[in-house]
Amino acid sequence: MKALVLAGGSGTRLRPFSHSMPKQLIPIANKPVLEYVLENIRELGVTEVGVIVGDRGPQIAAALGDGSRLGLRLTFIEQDAPRGLAHTVAIARDFLADDDFVMYLGDNMLPDGIRETAEQFAAHRPAAQLLVRKVADPSAYGVAELGPDGEVLRLVEKPARPRSDLALIGVYFFTPAIHEAVAAIGPSARGELEITDAVQWLVSSGAVVRAGEYGGYWKDTGSVADVLECNRKLLDDIVSGVAGEVDAASELRGPVIIGAGARVTGSRIEGPVIVGAGSVVENCHIGPHTAIGRDCVLRDTRIEYSITLDGATVTQVRGLRGSLIGRAATVDARAEGADHHCLVVGDHARIEVAA
Ligand code: DAU
Repeated sequence: MKALVLAGGSGTRLRPFSHSMPKQLIPIANKPVLEYVLENIRELGVTEVGVIVGDRGPQIAAALGDGSRLGLRLTFIEQDAPRGLAHTVAIARDFLADDDFVMYLGDNMLPDGIRETAEQFAAHRPAAQLLVRKVADPSAYGVAELGPDGEVLRLVEKPARPRSDLALIGVYFFTPAIHEAVAAIGPSARGELEITDAVQWLVSSGAVVRAGEYGGYWKDTGSVADVLECNRKLLDDIVSGVAGEVDAASELRGPVIIGAGARVTGSRIEGPVIVGAGSVVENCHIGPHTAIGRDCVLRDTRIEYSITLDGATVTQVRGLRGSLIGRAATVDARAEGADHHCLVVGDHARIEVAA
């Protein structure tokens, strides 16, 4: 079995971050989403992985290398534009050959793994084996209608009026039967070759397509709110470890990781919190549920339920919550007595200032 990981696409809901980095490299608990994806694949014993990349391919290749660090052999496959999930299967045809494969969307987080589904697929080898989950807003996803034994009856991509509350999770197991389906479908109303349409084609032509309700944690990290929520979830499971320096005037509570070369002085850290390697934290109150990247500087700041990416600087800001601060970004208080805000805001950024 092989794997096809999708790390192209445009990431419009994660702007401004997706202007400068692929959304699949956004760190959750200080590790890029794609690494979690690849670890789950490795856990299945799969080592041959095709990675679909768009115009941010070089950044993804720089982050992952050839995959040997993760025990994988990666083949990067360039997609000229985000033409749809089924289009990625078509351009990976040579790489996939006639092997079974798991297609894994590079922004989907499933920290509890996908072993059970892989075992079901291997035991029964339906043409496609899908994972579904009940959601409150099915119209934002592919939606499945299932029969009593988990057979898929109908699939629709982001329907305006969903006929079930079962969303498709972004992990799909396929036999080579999918290739005929992908070749048979045309673009959807939004101009993409939808994998949902290809799987529906299999269903309509009488192939066995099965789906199981996934019981573990699942998050599509396509938006800032989902990134922060997933960060909260993963931080809940960290185990304390202090490699950097913490002075006697500081207090660490709950699970806290302080990376190598980091320095914490005069601060209160309320776990779960990770302070990345080389970061400086002075006179701050950090946490809970906060991940500080590498080489950040935080001074006289109160921050919780947030992420700061590598190299960010935050000084004298005492009420940060639900914030995602970009690489090498600076958030600073104005000099005392200043009566206005001063903002240098990148394209598609969002700022909320307390009134
Ligand atoms: O997260 C689950 C949902 O993922 C499913 O319920 C939907 O049925 C499925 O279509 C997909 O919907 P999204 O709108 O979330 O897909 P998105 O455009 O975000 O793309 C998913 C991943 O695939 C993302 O990492 C980008 C990558 N991608 C996407 C397209 C359209 C590519 O590599 N190439 C592409 O052409």
